[in-house]
Amino acid sequence: MAPATYLPSYLPIILERGDLTQLAVDAIVNAAGPTLLGGGGVDGAIHDAAGPELLAECSTLGGCAVGDAKLTAGYRLPARHVIHAVGPIWRGGDHGEADLLASAYRRSLELAVAHGLRTVAFPAISCGVYGYPHAQAAEVAARAVRDFILAHPGALSGVYLVAFDDAAAAAIAAALAELGAYERIIGGLLGLIVGDALGVPVEFFRREALDRAPLLDMIGHGTHDQPPGTWSDDSSLTLATAASLTSSRTIDPEDMMRRFADWLERGEWSAHGEVFDVGITTAESIKRYLSGAPAPWGGGGEMDNGNGALMRIFPLACALRRATAAQLIERAGEVSALTHAHPRSRLCCAYFCLVVRAVFRGGGLLSAMNEAAAALAPSLPASEAAALARILDASVLDAPREQIRGSGYVVHCLEASLWAAHRHQGFSAAVLAAINLGEDTDTTGAVTGALAGALYGREAIPRRWLEALARGPELLAVAERLAAL
Ligand code: APR
Repeated sequence: MAPATYLPSYLPIILERGDLTQLAVDAIVNAAGPTLLGGGGVDGAIHDAAGPELLAECSTLGGCAVGDAKLTAGYRLPARHVIHAVGPIWRGGDHGEADLLASAYRRSLELAVAHGLRTVAFPAISCGVYGYPHAQAAEVAARAVRDFILAHPGALSGVYLVAFDDAAAAAIAAALAELGAYERIIGGLLGLIVGDALGVPVEFFRREALDRAPLLDMIGHGTHDQPPGTWSDDSSLTLATAASLTSSRTIDPEDMMRRFADWLERGEWSAHGEVFDVGITTAESIKRYLSGAPAPWGGGGEMDNGNGALMRIFPLACALRRATAAQLIERAGEVSALTHAHPRSRLCCAYFCLVVRAVFRGGGLLSAMNEAAAALAPSLPASEAAALARILDASVLDAPREQIRGSGYVVHCLEASLWAAHRHQGFSAAVLAAINLGEDTDTTGAVTGALAGALYGREAIPRRWLEALARGPELLAVAERLAAL
């Protein structure tokens, strides 16, 4: 299997295993001392490889403060330049070391961009003689580089974090994997809400009408006569689920149900304080809960298999991204059953969570689907195998558009989102393709938006769509809390 590409494409941060002095990049970064007059470790290796002219130039620079960096030529090195960065000496972690280390990375990249350099390779600054533990240093480095790249889009084409030994490599790999999951979780939650808001104005539109006049952008009014950027029950119940998971930091289905009831009765987590477009099975389940009936409150009949649980299950995949597949499958079924208790809805929720968290780890959609199908196989009742057949063998991905439905049936919704994400590159194309299937467009938009947002990361979502969302800042805060779990 191809190595996981931890990070979305807009973050070209690459783990490189080997000797920094041999990299033919625009600039390698030296883990220098404040005098800039050479030393051991990578500093010594760089001066040895560059030749005496490097020391001669360094001698003219007047040293360098901790957390700062200075640029020289590369001389006999394959790299055109050397950026001499001075990291902090580790003193236990409460002497501002993290800020100084982040500054050393940031200043190095500022110098690179100021000189039009696009490829930069770093050693694990401060992790040798200066004693900075690899795990903490790699996390600081990965975040500092991510923040710089997001603030300077397109300025760099590759930032290499070079590991000279296994300890460094493991720490950098773990830090990049966490960074990738963070970007993908935020992308998935915001993508779900954007997909929902895109679909709201054309909900219940027939495909023929959308074939004649496809949805191309975020519009308003239409079916529910709501202003542009208005999201519906899909996002409201997703946000209520996320709020439950991030506030109690446990999985408490009763707490989730109470929040669902707060939404239905008081418009909690609605876009403009008004509840519209409530699913029948969801409403009946919440009313059962409010009447004091015992759990499970969800409808368990075969005709209760609407997409009302699938549309709100994404936050559970975030909260359980480190759990075992068996734990995730069990909890997804439990959370589905709050409103949708039939095995089919439970299995679709479990499958979607398994796919999404494989995507968080950098896996592609098809490998994530195969992994999910394999994990579900042992717990799949024969009665459900037929209904889910095209999903479990992934043949739905190759189905012609005429065989893909955007209805409110949970299997159709899941099939449509997988099909749209697989057959259309990029966030916008995938979500619009799902919505233009017609019928339950806000939910196919939401589920596809969650999947595509996770696949491509938050920066792949058009900014104008994010800026159109009602309560935008609050949504980002929820997404960041979810990503920090
Ligand atoms: N390529 C890549 N990485 C390397 C190489 C190399 N050729 N040689 C060493 N490293 C790694 C080390 O394994 C370590 O993980 O660079 C990292 C930084 O270690 P040091 O070079 O010891 O740098 P640092 O901990 O920042 O201490 C800097 O040491 O060499 C002196 O003059 C330098 O005073 C400064 C201090």
